[in-house]
Amino acid sequence: AFAPLADARGRRKRKLRLSLTDRCNLRCVYCMPEHPQWLPRDTLLSADELARLARLFVERLGIDEIRLTGGEPLLRDGIADIVARIDALRGAGLARIAMTSNGVRLDRHARSLRDAGLDDVNVSLDAISPAGFTRLTGGELAPVLRGIDAARAAGLPVKINSVILRGHNEDEVLPLVRWAVAERLPLRFIEFMPLDGRGYWNAERVVREDEILARLAPHYRIESCPPTDAPAHEYRLDGEHVLGMISTVSKPFCRRCDRVRVSATGRLYSCLFSADGPDLRALLRGGADDESIAARVRAHVWHKEAGYAERPGYVERPITMHVMGG
Ligand code: GTP
Ligand code: 5AD
Ligand code: SF4
Repeated sequence: AFAPLADARGRRKRKLRLSLTDRCNLRCVYCMPEHPQWLPRDTLLSADELARLARLFVERLGIDEIRLTGGEPLLRDGIADIVARIDALRGAGLARIAMTSNGVRLDRHARSLRDAGLDDVNVSLDAISPAGFTRLTGGELAPVLRGIDAARAAGLPVKINSVILRGHNEDEVLPLVRWAVAERLPLRFIEFMPLDGRGYWNAERVVREDEILARLAPHYRIESCPPTDAPAHEYRLDGEHVLGMISTVSKPFCRRCDRVRVSATGRLYSCLFSADGPDLRALLRGGADDESIAARVRAHVWHKEAGYAERPGYVERPITMHVMGG
Protein backbone atom coordinates (compact mmCIF):
# COMPACT_ATOMS: atom_id res chain seq x y z
CA ALA A 1 0.00 0.00 0.00
CA PHE A 2 1.31 3.43 -0.90
CA ALA A 3 0.72 6.37 1.41
CA PRO A 4 3.10 9.32 1.31
CA LEU A 5 5.01 9.95 4.49
CA ALA A 6 3.66 12.89 6.48
CA ASP A 7 3.24 14.05 10.06
CA ALA A 8 0.29 15.33 12.04
CA ARG A 9 1.52 18.92 11.59
CA GLY A 10 1.02 18.63 7.82
CA ARG A 11 4.66 18.22 6.90
CA ARG A 12 5.18 15.87 3.93
CA LYS A 13 8.46 13.93 3.98
CA ARG A 14 10.31 13.63 0.69
CA LYS A 15 13.92 13.24 1.72
CA LEU A 16 15.70 10.37 3.41
CA ARG A 17 19.15 10.84 4.95
CA LEU A 18 20.79 7.46 5.19
CA SER A 19 23.95 7.13 7.29
CA LEU A 20 26.32 4.45 5.99
CA THR A 21 28.85 4.39 8.82
CA ASP A 22 29.77 6.12 12.06
CA ARG A 23 33.45 6.08 11.10
CA CYS A 24 35.23 9.22 10.05
CA ASN A 25 38.77 10.13 9.05
CA LEU A 26 38.50 13.67 10.47
CA ARG A 27 37.76 14.97 13.97
CA CYS A 28 35.86 18.22 13.42
CA VAL A 29 35.45 19.94 16.78
CA TYR A 30 31.78 20.68 16.09
CA CYS A 31 30.89 17.06 15.40
CA MET A 32 32.97 14.17 16.68
CA PRO A 33 33.50 13.09 20.28
CA GLU A 34 37.17 13.44 21.22
CA HIS A 35 37.60 9.68 21.59
CA PRO A 36 35.00 8.07 19.37
CA GLN A 37 34.18 4.42 20.04
CA TRP A 38 33.45 2.90 16.65
CA LEU A 39 30.40 0.71 16.47
CA PRO A 40 31.01 -3.00 15.82
CA ARG A 41 30.61 -3.67 12.09
CA ASP A 42 27.76 -6.15 12.48
CA THR A 43 25.68 -3.46 14.14
CA LEU A 44 25.76 -1.39 10.93
CA LEU A 45 23.17 -2.00 8.26
CA SER A 46 24.52 -4.31 5.54
CA ALA A 47 24.44 -3.32 1.86
CA ASP A 48 21.42 -5.62 1.40
CA GLU A 49 19.62 -4.03 4.33
CA LEU A 50 20.39 -0.53 3.05
CA ALA A 51 19.13 -1.41 -0.42
CA ARG A 52 15.95 -2.94 0.98
CA LEU A 53 15.22 0.05 3.22
CA ALA A 54 15.90 2.48 0.37
CA ARG A 55 13.48 0.58 -1.85
CA LEU A 56 10.67 0.52 0.65
CA PHE A 57 11.09 4.20 1.49
CA VAL A 58 10.82 5.04 -2.22
CA GLU A 59 8.15 2.54 -3.25
CA ARG A 60 5.90 2.62 -0.22
CA LEU A 61 6.53 5.96 1.43
CA GLY A 62 7.08 8.32 -1.48
CA ILE A 63 10.64 9.36 -0.69
CA ASP A 64 12.09 10.97 -3.83
CA GLU A 65 15.54 12.00 -2.61
CA ILE A 66 18.14 9.94 -0.77
CA ARG A 67 21.22 11.56 0.74
CA LEU A 68 24.05 9.29 1.85
CA THR A 69 25.83 10.51 4.96
CA GLY A 70 28.18 9.23 7.67
CA GLY A 71 30.40 9.65 9.61
CA GLU A 72 32.18 9.78 6.32
CA PRO A 73 30.23 7.81 3.70
CA LEU A 74 33.32 7.22 1.54
CA LEU A 75 34.79 5.06 4.32
CA ARG A 76 32.11 2.51 3.64
CA ASP A 77 33.36 -0.48 1.62
CA GLY A 78 31.51 -0.99 -1.63
CA ILE A 79 30.15 2.55 -1.67
CA ALA A 80 29.74 2.69 -5.48
CA ASP A 81 27.83 -0.57 -5.37
CA ILE A 82 25.47 0.84 -2.72
CA VAL A 83 24.87 3.89 -4.93
CA ALA A 84 24.21 1.65 -7.95
CA ARG A 85 21.63 -0.35 -6.02
CA ILE A 86 19.84 2.84 -5.00
CA ASP A 87 20.10 4.09 -8.58
CA ALA A 88 17.95 1.12 -9.60
CA LEU A 89 15.03 2.83 -7.79
CA ARG A 90 14.72 5.69 -10.29
CA GLY A 91 11.83 3.99 -12.06
CA ALA A 92 9.99 3.78 -8.73
CA GLY A 93 10.06 7.56 -8.18
CA LEU A 94 13.53 8.34 -6.90
CA ALA A 95 14.67 11.64 -8.40
CA ARG A 96 17.99 12.39 -6.71
CA ILE A 97 20.85 10.55 -5.01
CA ALA A 98 23.13 12.93 -3.14
CA MET A 99 25.96 12.62 -0.66
CA THR A 100 27.47 14.72 2.11
CA SER A 101 31.19 14.02 2.42
CA ASN A 102 34.29 15.52 3.97
CA GLY A 103 35.96 15.15 0.57
CA VAL A 104 39.15 13.51 1.84
CA ARG A 105 38.71 10.41 -0.34
CA LEU A 106 36.64 11.96 -3.07
CA ASP A 107 39.42 12.02 -5.65
CA ARG A 108 39.54 8.21 -5.58
CA HIS A 109 35.80 7.72 -5.75
CA ALA A 110 34.36 10.57 -7.83
CA ARG A 111 34.35 8.82 -11.18
CA SER A 112 32.88 5.53 -9.96
CA LEU A 113 30.25 7.34 -7.87
CA ARG A 114 29.18 9.35 -10.90
CA ASP A 115 29.05 6.19 -13.02
CA ALA A 116 27.00 4.44 -10.33
CA GLY A 117 24.37 7.20 -10.46
CA LEU A 118 25.26 9.76 -7.79
CA ASP A 119 23.76 13.14 -8.75
CA ASP A 120 25.77 15.56 -6.64
CA VAL A 121 27.89 15.94 -3.53
CA ASN A 122 28.06 18.44 -0.67
CA VAL A 123 31.57 18.80 0.71
CA SER A 124 32.21 20.11 4.23
CA LEU A 125 35.01 22.67 4.22
CA ASP A 126 35.26 25.07 7.15
CA ALA A 127 38.58 26.75 6.37
CA ILE A 128 40.54 27.49 3.23
CA SER A 129 43.89 28.06 4.92
CA PRO A 130 45.79 24.79 5.46
CA ALA A 131 46.58 25.62 9.09
CA GLY A 132 43.01 26.68 9.83
CA PHE A 133 41.68 23.49 8.27
CA THR A 134 43.98 21.31 10.34
CA ARG A 135 43.13 23.11 13.57
CA LEU A 136 39.43 22.52 13.03
CA THR A 137 39.41 18.98 11.63
CA GLY A 138 42.73 17.38 12.55
CA GLY A 139 43.24 16.54 8.86
CA GLU A 140 44.87 18.00 5.77
CA LEU A 141 43.36 20.46 3.33
CA ALA A 142 45.09 19.39 0.09
CA PRO A 143 43.28 16.05 -0.40
CA VAL A 144 39.92 17.78 0.07
CA LEU A 145 40.73 20.32 -2.64
CA ARG A 146 41.86 17.49 -4.93
CA GLY A 147 38.61 15.69 -4.16
CA ILE A 148 36.53 18.73 -5.10
CA ASP A 149 38.41 19.05 -8.40
CA ALA A 150 38.00 15.35 -9.13
CA ALA A 151 34.27 15.50 -8.48
CA ARG A 152 33.80 18.43 -10.83
CA ALA A 153 35.98 16.78 -13.47
CA ALA A 154 33.78 13.68 -13.21
CA GLY A 155 30.66 15.81 -13.77
CA LEU A 156 29.45 15.73 -10.15
CA PRO A 157 28.14 19.14 -9.05
CA VAL A 158 29.67 20.21 -5.71
CA LYS A 159 28.30 22.50 -3.00
CA ILE A 160 30.43 23.59 -0.04
CA ASN A 161 29.19 23.51 3.59
CA SER A 162 31.01 25.65 6.16
CA VAL A 163 30.33 25.67 9.89
CA ILE A 164 31.79 28.78 11.59
CA LEU A 165 32.63 28.61 15.30
CA ARG A 166 33.51 31.61 17.39
CA GLY A 167 37.11 31.54 18.48
CA HIS A 168 38.02 29.01 15.77
CA ASN A 169 37.41 30.07 12.19
CA GLU A 170 35.60 33.40 11.95
CA ASP A 171 38.66 34.68 10.12
CA GLU A 172 38.00 32.09 7.39
CA VAL A 173 34.64 33.61 6.39
CA LEU A 174 35.95 36.13 3.87
CA PRO A 175 38.69 33.87 2.44
CA LEU A 176 36.15 31.06 1.99
CA VAL A 177 33.78 33.37 0.14
CA ARG A 178 36.58 34.77 -2.06
CA TRP A 179 37.70 31.25 -2.89
CA ALA A 180 34.16 30.01 -3.64
CA VAL A 181 33.47 33.02 -5.87
CA ALA A 182 36.73 32.48 -7.77
CA GLU A 183 36.03 28.75 -8.12
CA ARG A 184 32.35 29.35 -8.96
CA LEU A 185 31.32 26.92 -6.23
CA PRO A 186 28.06 27.41 -4.31
CA LEU A 187 28.90 27.96 -0.63
CA ARG A 188 26.57 27.63 2.37
CA PHE A 189 27.37 28.76 5.88
CA ILE A 190 25.74 26.60 8.58
CA GLU A 191 25.11 27.80 12.12
CA PHE A 192 26.73 25.56 14.74
CA MET A 193 23.97 23.35 16.15
CA PRO A 194 23.85 21.96 19.71
CA LEU A 195 24.37 18.34 18.72
CA ASP A 196 28.09 17.87 18.69
CA GLY A 197 29.64 14.79 20.23
CA ARG A 198 31.64 16.59 22.93
CA GLY A 199 29.05 18.89 24.45
CA TYR A 200 31.19 21.79 23.22
CA TRP A 201 28.25 23.82 21.93
CA ASN A 202 27.10 26.95 23.67
CA ALA A 203 25.14 29.90 22.36
CA GLU A 204 28.24 32.13 22.49
CA ARG A 205 30.10 29.94 20.00
CA VAL A 206 27.38 30.21 17.35
CA VAL A 207 28.34 32.65 14.59
CA ARG A 208 24.98 33.72 13.28
CA GLU A 209 23.81 34.55 9.80
CA ASP A 210 23.56 38.30 10.52
CA GLU A 211 27.11 38.36 11.79
CA ILE A 212 28.48 36.60 8.71
CA LEU A 213 26.60 39.00 6.45
CA ALA A 214 28.00 41.95 8.41
CA ARG A 215 31.52 40.62 7.85
CA LEU A 216 30.92 40.39 4.11
CA ALA A 217 29.05 43.66 3.68
CA PRO A 218 32.19 45.86 3.25
CA HIS A 219 33.37 43.61 0.42
CA TYR A 220 30.27 42.64 -1.55
CA ARG A 221 26.94 44.12 -2.54
CA ILE A 222 24.54 41.64 -0.91
CA GLU A 223 20.95 41.09 -2.02
CA SER A 224 18.52 38.62 -0.48
CA CYS A 225 16.95 36.13 -2.94
CA PRO A 226 13.26 35.17 -2.74
CA PRO A 227 12.69 32.43 -0.13
CA THR A 228 12.38 28.80 -1.27
CA ASP A 229 11.57 25.52 0.48
CA ALA A 230 15.25 24.61 0.85
CA PRO A 231 16.93 24.97 4.26
CA ALA A 232 19.40 27.50 2.88
CA HIS A 233 18.33 31.12 2.50
CA GLU A 234 20.13 32.50 -0.52
CA TYR A 235 21.86 35.81 -1.08
CA ARG A 236 23.40 37.20 -4.24
CA LEU A 237 26.86 38.73 -4.05
CA ASP A 238 27.61 41.57 -6.48
CA GLY A 239 24.53 40.59 -8.48
CA GLU A 240 26.15 37.33 -9.43
CA HIS A 241 27.43 34.69 -7.06
CA VAL A 242 24.93 32.86 -4.84
CA LEU A 243 25.71 32.41 -1.13
CA GLY A 244 23.51 30.22 1.11
CA MET A 245 22.85 30.50 4.83
CA ILE A 246 21.55 27.50 6.75
CA SER A 247 20.56 29.36 9.88
CA THR A 248 19.44 26.42 11.94
CA VAL A 249 19.83 28.32 15.21
CA SER A 250 18.72 31.87 14.45
CA LYS A 251 16.01 30.91 11.91
CA PRO A 252 15.10 27.23 12.29
CA PHE A 253 13.25 25.71 9.34
CA CYS A 254 11.42 23.02 11.35
CA ARG A 255 8.05 24.21 10.13
CA ARG A 256 8.87 23.09 6.60
CA CYS A 257 11.00 20.10 7.53
CA ASP A 258 10.64 17.51 4.75
CA ARG A 259 13.21 14.91 5.86
CA VAL A 260 13.66 11.76 7.90
CA ARG A 261 16.89 10.02 8.88
CA VAL A 262 18.11 6.49 9.35
CA SER A 263 21.25 6.12 11.47
CA ALA A 264 24.14 3.82 10.63
CA THR A 265 22.64 1.19 12.93
CA GLY A 266 19.21 1.41 11.33
CA ARG A 267 17.38 3.57 13.80
CA LEU A 268 14.74 5.90 12.40
CA TYR A 269 14.88 9.51 13.61
CA SER A 270 12.11 11.87 12.61
CA CYS A 271 14.18 14.89 13.68
CA LEU A 272 17.86 15.77 13.95
CA PHE A 273 17.16 16.52 17.60
CA SER A 274 15.22 13.33 18.40
CA ALA A 275 16.50 11.29 21.31
CA ASP A 276 15.21 8.02 19.95
CA GLY A 277 13.27 6.24 17.23
CA PRO A 278 12.23 2.75 16.14
CA ASP A 279 14.90 0.13 15.48
CA LEU A 280 14.41 -0.73 11.80
CA ARG A 281 17.42 -3.08 11.89
CA ALA A 282 15.64 -5.29 14.42
CA LEU A 283 12.59 -5.41 12.14
CA LEU A 284 14.76 -6.24 9.10
CA ARG A 285 16.67 -8.95 10.95
CA GLY A 286 13.54 -10.29 12.62
CA GLY A 287 11.96 -11.14 9.28
CA ALA A 288 9.38 -8.34 9.06
CA ASP A 289 7.92 -7.78 5.60
CA ASP A 290 8.20 -4.48 3.73
CA GLU A 291 4.69 -3.32 4.50
CA SER A 292 5.02 -3.82 8.24
CA ILE A 293 8.31 -1.87 8.26
CA ALA A 294 6.69 0.89 6.20
CA ALA A 295 3.73 0.94 8.61
CA ARG A 296 6.10 1.33 11.57
CA VAL A 297 7.83 4.26 9.83
CA ARG A 298 4.51 5.92 8.99
CA ALA A 299 3.26 5.60 12.55
CA HIS A 300 6.44 7.02 14.06
CA VAL A 301 6.76 9.92 11.65
CA TRP A 302 3.12 10.85 12.14
CA HIS A 303 3.98 11.84 15.72
CA LYS A 304 7.08 13.82 14.75
CA GLU A 305 7.88 16.50 17.30
CA ALA A 306 7.65 20.18 16.35
CA GLY A 307 11.44 20.45 16.17
CA TYR A 308 14.35 22.29 17.65
CA ALA A 309 12.68 25.63 16.95
CA GLU A 310 10.37 24.92 19.89
CA ARG A 311 13.02 24.10 22.49
CA PRO A 312 16.23 26.07 22.00
CA GLY A 313 19.33 25.32 24.06
CA TYR A 314 21.76 22.44 24.28
CA VAL A 315 20.11 19.14 23.43
CA GLU A 316 21.23 16.09 25.39
CA ARG A 317 20.85 13.03 23.22
CA PRO A 318 22.28 9.53 23.40
CA ILE A 319 23.24 9.80 19.71
CA THR A 320 25.68 12.28 18.19
CA MET A 321 26.00 13.80 14.75
CA HIS A 322 28.50 11.26 13.44
CA VAL A 323 26.16 8.30 14.01
CA MET A 324 23.01 10.06 12.91
CA GLY A 325 24.54 11.58 9.79
CA GLY A 326 23.84 15.28 10.29
P1 GTP B 1 20.78 20.13 -0.28
O1 GTP B 1 19.60 19.39 -0.81
O2 GTP B 1 21.97 19.96 -1.19
O3 GTP B 1 20.49 21.55 0.06
O4 GTP B 1 21.21 19.34 1.05
P2 GTP B 1 21.12 19.68 2.59
O5 GTP B 1 21.59 21.05 2.85
O6 GTP B 1 19.78 19.31 3.07
O7 GTP B 1 22.15 18.60 3.19
P3 GTP B 1 23.56 18.73 3.93
O8 GTP B 1 23.92 17.35 4.37
O9 GTP B 1 24.55 19.43 3.07
O10 GTP B 1 23.24 19.58 5.21
C1 GTP B 1 23.64 20.90 5.38
C2 GTP B 1 23.38 21.33 6.82
O11 GTP B 1 22.01 21.39 7.11
C3 GTP B 1 23.99 20.37 7.83
O12 GTP B 1 24.57 21.09 8.90
C4 GTP B 1 22.82 19.60 8.30
O13 GTP B 1 23.00 19.04 9.58
C5 GTP B 1 21.75 20.67 8.29
N1 GTP B 1 20.47 20.02 8.21
C6 GTP B 1 20.12 19.11 7.27
N2 GTP B 1 18.87 18.66 7.54
C7 GTP B 1 18.46 19.30 8.66
C8 GTP B 1 17.26 19.24 9.45
O14 GTP B 1 16.33 18.50 9.17
N3 GTP B 1 17.19 20.04 10.53
C9 GTP B 1 18.20 20.87 10.87
N4 GTP B 1 18.02 21.65 11.94
N5 GTP B 1 19.34 20.95 10.17
C10 GTP B 1 19.48 20.16 9.09
N1 5AD C 1 26.27 22.01 13.68
C1 5AD C 1 26.08 22.33 12.36
N2 5AD C 1 26.49 21.58 11.34
C2 5AD C 1 27.17 20.46 11.64
N3 5AD C 1 27.72 19.52 10.86
C3 5AD C 1 28.26 18.57 11.65
N4 5AD C 1 28.09 18.88 12.95
C4 5AD C 1 27.42 20.06 12.97
C5 5AD C 1 26.94 20.89 14.01
N5 5AD C 1 27.12 20.59 15.31
C6 5AD C 1 27.66 19.58 9.39
C7 5AD C 1 28.87 19.07 8.68
C8 5AD C 1 28.30 18.57 7.37
C9 5AD C 1 26.83 18.41 7.62
C10 5AD C 1 26.30 17.05 7.39
O1 5AD C 1 26.61 18.77 8.95
O2 5AD C 1 29.80 20.07 8.45
O3 5AD C 1 28.49 19.50 6.32
FE1 SF4 D 1 33.66 13.70 10.21
FE2 SF4 D 1 31.75 15.00 9.00
FE3 SF4 D 1 31.78 14.90 11.62
FE4 SF4 D 1 33.63 16.31 10.39
S1 SF4 D 1 31.41 16.71 10.32
S2 SF4 D 1 34.00 14.88 12.07
S3 SF4 D 1 33.94 15.20 8.53
S4 SF4 D 1 31.46 13.18 10.26
